[in-house]
Amino acid sequence: MKNKNTNTYFIETYGCQMNIADSELVENILIKEGYIKSKNLKSADVIFINTCAIREHAEDKVFSQLGRYDLIKKDNPHVIIGVLGCMAQSLKDDLLENRPYVDIILGPDSYRNLPELLNRANHRQSNLVDTKLSRFEVYDNLFPSRKDGVNAWISIMRGCDKFCTFCIVPFTRGRERSRSIPSIIKETKSAVDEGFQEITLLGQNVNSYHYENNKFHTLLEHVSSINGVKRIRFTSPHPQDITDELLYTMANHDNICNYIHLPLQSGSNKILRRMNRSYSKKYFLELAEKIRNILPGVGISTDIIVGFPGETDEDFNKTLDVMNEVQFDSSFNFKYSIRKGTKASEYNDQIQGNIKKDRLQKVIDLQKQHTLSRNLSLVGTTQTILVEKESKMSNKEWAGRTDSNKWVIFKKQSACIKDMIPVQIFDAKGITLRGKLIQKSEAA
Ligand code: SAH
Ligand code: SF4
Ligand code: F3S
Repeated sequence: MKNKNTNTYFIETYGCQMNIADSELVENILIKEGYIKSKNLKSADVIFINTCAIREHAEDKVFSQLGRYDLIKKDNPHVIIGVLGCMAQSLKDDLLENRPYVDIILGPDSYRNLPELLNRANHRQSNLVDTKLSRFEVYDNLFPSRKDGVNAWISIMRGCDKFCTFCIVPFTRGRERSRSIPSIIKETKSAVDEGFQEITLLGQNVNSYHYENNKFHTLLEHVSSINGVKRIRFTSPHPQDITDELLYTMANHDNICNYIHLPLQSGSNKILRRMNRSYSKKYFLELAEKIRNILPGVGISTDIIVGFPGETDEDFNKTLDVMNEVQFDSSFNFKYSIRKGTKASEYNDQIQGNIKKDRLQKVIDLQKQHTLSRNLSLVGTTQTILVEKESKMSNKEWAGRTDSNKWVIFKKQSACIKDMIPVQIFDAKGITLRGKLIQKSEAA
């Protein structure tokens, strides 16, 4: 039997890093309201699921989890179930109609209203919904409750105004808006005081950041100069907004990691235009070359969509061409997924599933070769690694990342979590590097 005076919560998070950061914010709101984290799903008084709508597959995972919550609620009708995030925003009608066991539906700009909704949910007759998108909400004075670890996520802007024709994000997250520099600095300082070594600045279009007259590179300079910030990463940038100033700022500050995510999506100009990506194949190739010139040794990752409406074999081959030319260090590859309400969902030349599947496999196979050859080129070099966690394979080994965002496994020896240490790379397999800690006496 549950004790009625203890309110416990459980929160599950799907989707991108922005959702992880939002869940930490929601946790802080709940803790302030006197809630305690439940050890498991079944014993919680309130269950939240923070959802992602980016592809059908992401939604399916959430729906199957909601099915489990339904059963929990049948056992215990007092439990409150809340759906947060992007699916709450884009699928509220479906949730209202078909999931009567959901008590609260809260979009990404409505988390401040959570305490009030929770109070009302205890006496409610019907679902409570708040999915108003805001032009201003950046949760400026609400700090997150972070998990232990090495990295602190700091959200610096929200929303997206780019309207790529395949993408649901501008509809689920609303208009672009940036947080103030003083507030970001304050949050970074407090994360450093809590013991975090690495700061990852987050935004759907992180490098569209602008506050008063300051652009993203100015913010980076501010964050870089904060005492105790050992590493800074940022995600997700858009190729269009990668400025020379940004690249030189990265080059001039040791604690800004030598890594850029550069989402290609497609190598065909025709498809890029239909996607409303705002750059051409030529622009992208020149940008990648410039990045490699200004930032020697930089890690570059990408996102690729195969089977976008109207993509012919010829278009698809152009994507492979760009991959061959740039030789990305890694890539996240997706089959195009129709998103209701987006422009591309209305195109009448959708691509068959089996073609998408074949193309995806080709991209995956090619990327494997590129990842391996890029990683092999590091064998024999010494890399600075931030020790992040125990290796999944052995409790005698640590796992940490290079500046350029590659995972390295090595024997623990004298190293501890959170150390920045020199590791000599001796092998590359799959996506992982193997190395050996260089002891102080060897390094001297
Ligand atoms: N703002 C980020 C992207 C966020 S979504 C950016 O522009 O880089 C992450 C990735 O999901 C996108 O880069 C794209 O490759 C993929 N994606 C988005 N919508 C998709 C869809 N409808 N089908 C397949 N992949 C999609
Ligand atoms: Fe989506 Fe494009 Fe905005 Fe990225 S830039 S979130 S892909 S609309
Ligand atoms: Fe998914 Fe929303 Fe992030 S759709 S990828 S959780 S912005």
